[in-house]
Amino acid sequence: MKTLWQALLRAAAAADAFVSNGGRLAGFGSVFSLRGKRKERLELAEWRWCQMGVKWCSRNVPLSSSEGWRYQKANRNPGRREQSLSPEKMLVSPMAERNKETILEVLADYVDDTRSAFGLELGSGTGQHVVHFAQALPTVIWQPSEISPASQQSISAYIQATKVTNVREPLAIDVTQPWDQWAGLSQGCCDFIIIINLLHMTDQGLEGMFKGIGQLLKPGGICLAYGPFAVNGIILPECNVQLDNMLQARNPEWGLRDVEELRQLANTNALRLERMLEMPEYTKCLIFRRREL
Ligand SMILES: C[S@@+](CC[C@H](N)C(=O)[O-])C[C@H]1O[C@@H](n2cnc3c(N)ncnc32)[C@H](O)[C@@H]1O
Repeated sequence: MKTLWQALLRAAAAADAFVSNGGRLAGFGSVFSLRGKRKERLELAEWRWCQMGVKWCSRNVPLSSSEGWRYQKANRNPGRREQSLSPEKMLVSPMAERNKETILEVLADYVDDTRSAFGLELGSGTGQHVVHFAQALPTVIWQPSEISPASQQSISAYIQATKVTNVREPLAIDVTQPWDQWAGLSQGCCDFIIIINLLHMTDQGLEGMFKGIGQLLKPGGICLAYGPFAVNGIILPECNVQLDNMLQARNPEWGLRDVEELRQLANTNALRLERMLEMPEYTKCLIFRRREL
C-alpha cells in the first residue's frame, strides 16, 4: 500500500512538473487537469480561504495545487534542505506567491535605493511577501508583524531559509490594539507601512489602525494597502461580492472596505490617498502618503 502510494506520489510529482512547464495531460482525470476549469475553481477557493484568514496550506494541501505539491515535497524530503532550517514551518500561500511581484513593482517606485529606510508590514501572513521585498530592495530594513503565532514562526522560517539580512524577526502586533501597544514601535519610525489583504478582516480596529499608521509614518512616508476594495459603495466583479458576503457571514464587522471610507479615515490621520492602481485578480493598490509637518 505504502509503495503504491509512493508510486502515485512520484507520478503526481512528474505530472505536476510537466504541467508546470506548460504541458497538458489528457486522460489523467480531474486531479491532474491543472490548467483546466478545476484549477480555476481551486484557485478561486484558495483566494476565498486566504481572504477569510484560513490557514490555507498548512497541512491539507489540495492535491491539484502545484504550489501545494512543492510544499509537500519540501516537507517529505527534509534531508534535501539544511538541517538547521524549518521548512515544515514555512506556510505557503499560492495567492502571495502570485501577487508578490506585482506589489513589488508598485512598491519599488517609492524606494530610493541610495538611502536606507525602515519598512513595517502589518499582518505579514506567511512571510513570503516580506522576504521577496527584502531581496529586491536591500536598502530597506523590513519589520514583519503578525497576530498569529504559526504565522510568526513561518516568517522566521522564511528569514532563515532565504538568509535575508535586512528582515527583522517578526513582532507580535495585533492591529486592533492601540498603536502605542504595537510592540514598542516609536512615533515616526517608518518610511513604509505595507498592508496586504488585511483591511477587510479588521473590524472595530480599522480606525485605530489608521491612527497607528499616521503616528508611525515619518512625514512624507508611504502606506501601501493591497487587496479587493469597494468603490463608491459598489463591489465588482461577482467573485468579490461573494467574497464580501462570505467575510460578513464569518464576522459581520468584516467585509471589503470602501475606498472613500479609507480616504476619509486617512484624512483624519494626516494621511492623503495619493494613488489608486488597478491590480490583477480584481484587486487594487492604494498609496497613502503621510503629510509633511
Ligand atoms: C488574509 S491573510 C493575509 C496575509 C498576508 N498579508 C498575505 O497577503 O499573504 C490576513 C492575515 O492577517 C492576520 N491578522 C488577522 N487579524 C489580525 C490582527 N488583528 N492583527 C494583526 N494581524 C492580523 C492573520 O493572522 C493573517 O495572517
